[in-house]
This record gives sequence, C-alpha cells and structure tokens, in this order.
Amino acid sequence: MSLVEKITQEDLVLYEILRNPVLCAEFIQNLDKLEYEKKLELDSYQKEFICDFNPYVSIACARAVGKSFALTNLIIWILINNIFPSDYIVYTVPSKVHLEPVWSYLVRFFRSNSFLRQFADPKTGFNSSDFIIKLKNNTQLSCRIAGQTGTGANVVGLHTPFVIVDESGYYPFGTWTEMQPIINTFTFGYRLIVSGVPTGLRERNICFHCDQENSSYTKHRISALQNPRFSEEDHRRAIEQYGGTDTEDYIHLVLGEHGKPIFALFDRNNMEISDYPVYQMSLDGTKFYDNVADYINLLSVFPTFADKKTECLFGIDLRIHRTISD
Ligand SMILES: Nc1ncnc2c1ncn2[C@@H]1O[C@H](COP(=O)(O)OP(=O)(O)O)[C@@H](O)[C@H]1O
Ligand SMILES: [Mg+2]
Repeated sequence: MSLVEKITQEDLVLYEILRNPVLCAEFIQNLDKLEYEKKLELDSYQKEFICDFNPYVSIACARAVGKSFALTNLIIWILINNIFPSDYIVYTVPSKVHLEPVWSYLVRFFRSNSFLRQFADPKTGFNSSDFIIKLKNNTQLSCRIAGQTGTGANVVGLHTPFVIVDESGYYPFGTWTEMQPIINTFTFGYRLIVSGVPTGLRERNICFHCDQENSSYTKHRISALQNPRFSEEDHRRAIEQYGGTDTEDYIHLVLGEHGKPIFALFDRNNMEISDYPVYQMSLDGTKFYDNVADYINLLSVFPTFADKKTECLFGIDLRIHRTISD
C-alpha cells in the first residue's frame, strides 16, 4: 500500500478560505498584520463586485470607493487558485499613469506578503517593461496600456477568458472595439469587467455604454456616500472643492452618476496623435498660500528643453468651479 499524506483539518480550512474570493482576499490582506493593526474587511459592495460571476460586469461608481482595490484582490484570487489553467488574464487601462498604482501594488504585495511570496520568484516573476507577472504555478497576468492611438494595437492578438478594463471613462473606444474578439467566450467562467467613474461623456464612452446602453452587463453603482471611509469631513471638503452638490464634478466623482451629457468637441479617432512626453504637476494653494518661493521651487523641477525650438503646449487647470458670471 502506498503512503498517502493525510490532509489535516487545518489544511482543509485553509483550502475552503482560499477558494472563496472574499475570504481569500481578507485572509491574505490580514495575514501579516500585527495585533494592534486594523484588520481589513472588504465592503459589502466590493464583495458584490468580485462575486459577480456574470460574464459581463459593469462597475460605474464614484471615485475612490475601492474599485481597483477589489479588482486587484480578484486578480490575486484568480492567479493563486489557477482558475484559468493554461490561460493568462488581462488587466488593461487607458494609460501608464493609470497602471502605475495597481502594478506597483501587485509587485510589492507579491514580494512582501508572507503567503503570496511563495508564489512568485522575486527575480523572474515580474517583468516591469512588459508589465507581466508570472507565478510559479504557471499563471500569468498581462497588464496592457491602451495608449493614445486608439487603434487597439496593444490588445490585438490577445486571447484570454478574463479581462478587467479599469478607468473605463477614459478608455479609447477604438481599442475597446478591437478588444471584443480577444475574449475567449468558449472558456467556462469567462468574464469581462469594466470599471470606472462617469465623466459625463456619452458617445463612444465605455463607462457610459456598459452602465447605460448595454443590457448584457450587470450594473454596480456606488456613490462615495456609501463608502465607509468617506467621512463627513471628506464630504464637506468635496462639496467645497467641487463648488456645491449640483456641479458636474460632484455628480460624477461623488455621486458616481453620469450627470448632464457632455459631448467631446474633437473625435480623437480623426486626429493623428504622436507620442510625446506629458508632464503634470499639482500645486496645492491651500498648502502654500502666497508663499511664492515654494511655487517656484516646485516649478523648477519641470524638465527643460534641450532645444529652444521644441514646441510645447502648456495648460493650467485651476480646479475651481465658478460660473462665468462670477
Ligand atoms: N475594504 C477596504 N478597507 C480599507 N481600505 C480600502 C478598502 N478598499 C479600498 N481601500 C483603500 O481605498 C483607497 C481607494 O481605493 P481604490 O481601489 O484606489 O479606489 P477606486 O479604484 O475606486 O478609485 C485605496 O487607498 C485603498 O487601499
Ligand atoms: Mg481605481
């Protein structure tokens, strides 16, 4: 008789935890926490996001309610459980700035968490130029940036049963169209999750399309007021910052609703857009007041031109919202 390893009760409990996407996320998040640290619990709406097994899922919500966080935990669950053996999964966003927080969080978490660490080879597991994570169990996450061209070049050729489109309010529609055939709808459990904050744009806008026009998608709509981490003080500040509760910014970012229709003045698809560097800087007047030296110090960080003839477009968004008559 051959020797068979006996599975302990503890192993069975762990198995039950890991195969449940919510318990798995909370287990991993809390594993290394010290006793006095606050334990993480997913919000009930986050549990609904990640336990929505409909093939088409739309998440159109306010800013910072925890969409990307929930989806990142779902990615981890899919990878470590090898839900789609022999297939890679895809997380795609409009541009590099949107990918950065999720990518660095995933890499840091897979390197530092005492459970996840077992799954990733610190040397070969992370490819930061192609944004690919490969785990020892042969699962793979490929992160794709749609880019500015809107042609779909960055997603064409993929074949996968699981795609998350994050920041869908800004995702180029051309890329979205090109992306549809990449989803292996023949794989059991295939899923396309589209998540973002309404922008007011309606025509050729993926966030609006999936939330309002396409009946295949289950709809998740959460306002910041449902977010337990959004305090009274945050609310007061948001009202002040966005200029009242009936402004479009408040309606989009706090209520997570589409508000009045906004129409894009230019259709990006009709423009030839080349690759050029874009630099952004935020100056917070509520911190610096009229301390001019602080502003100048910060502005001097901007890169200079090698050649004075270089064309440069400079824009300032004042982030204040007043009517023209003010
Ligand atoms: N259940 C939770 N408990 C504690 N913090 C959370 C939870 N969900 C999200 N967060 C934190 O809230 C912040 C915003 O989350 P994020 O996923 O980036 O928001 P969104 O993608 O909706 O804009 C992040 O710092 C994240 O770590
Ligand atoms: Mg996000």
